[in-house]
Amino acid sequence: MDKKIIEFWNKRGLHTKKYNGNEFYTATEIPFYIYRRNRILKLLDDNLKGKKILDLGCANGINTVYLKKKDAEVVGVDISENLLELARKNAFRENLDIPFYKIDGENLPFEDKSFDIVLTMFVLQHDLDVKSLNRLYKEISRVLDDNGKMINFERISIPSTKGPTWVIREPGEYIKLSEKNDFKLVDHSILSSRFWDDMMFPYYILKKRLALSDNNKFEISYSKLAVILTKHFDKVWKNNKFGTGYYLFCKK
Ligand SMILES: C[S@@+](CC[C@H](N)C(=O)[O-])C[C@H]1O[C@@H](n2cnc3c(N)ncnc32)[C@H](O)[C@@H]1O
Repeated sequence: MDKKIIEFWNKRGLHTKKYNGNEFYTATEIPFYIYRRNRILKLLDDNLKGKKILDLGCANGINTVYLKKKDAEVVGVDISENLLELARKNAFRENLDIPFYKIDGENLPFEDKSFDIVLTMFVLQHDLDVKSLNRLYKEISRVLDDNGKMINFERISIPSTKGPTWVIREPGEYIKLSEKNDFKLVDHSILSSRFWDDMMFPYYILKKRLALSDNNKFEISYSKLAVILTKHFDKVWKNNKFGTGYYLFCKK
């Protein structure tokens, strides 16, 4: 793993602490992200009791804690020690015993077929290098049980590189790469956030120009309005091509 990428995520951990006084979850959990995360988590299987789940790229553990509360046997791994520190604190705060490890998903120190589910949420989109994405899929396939599932949630749209650590891929790209690595697509849908992007774009330009802090009052109010409108458009736009891609794979 490129050191620069690890540094980027470690800085994100520090940033989270700085802006989020109580260190609870993430500074960027503004209303839209909460809305989107809740929609995503609802898509997960409801019967998670006793399931062995790997939350790959768990960051501050927000999803890991959710899964543990559903009685899953969950393990969180991430490359950023700073974010893992937050994850451990968040689990401790909730009185939950969750193992969190500093591990690169491309080299998982787990035995073959040791998980029922591997989850990535907004992780693969940060892997710009297709070779390392292939290595990730290979490792996921190895640690998954024959009846296991891989669940990916990643932003998709017209392909573009959004900076050194973020790439937008078209939906077919994830399907093509995982099928190359012994996975078979079972379900796929797109949760729209296109309207949100359109509405927040001018705000983010303004924020940069005026060097506004994260989660300022205006951002929170504006994003609340954007959530109301996004919810509406999520209902009326049926053929979304942009947004958060949900992918459910089983092994071939
Ligand atoms: C945008 S965050 C998403 C965190 C979390 N899954 C969520 O839904 O909020 C992406 C995380 O993936 C981690 N990550 C990126 N590549 C990774 C890899 N190869 N192995 C493990 N973690 C990785 C980063 O350190 C970062 O914490």
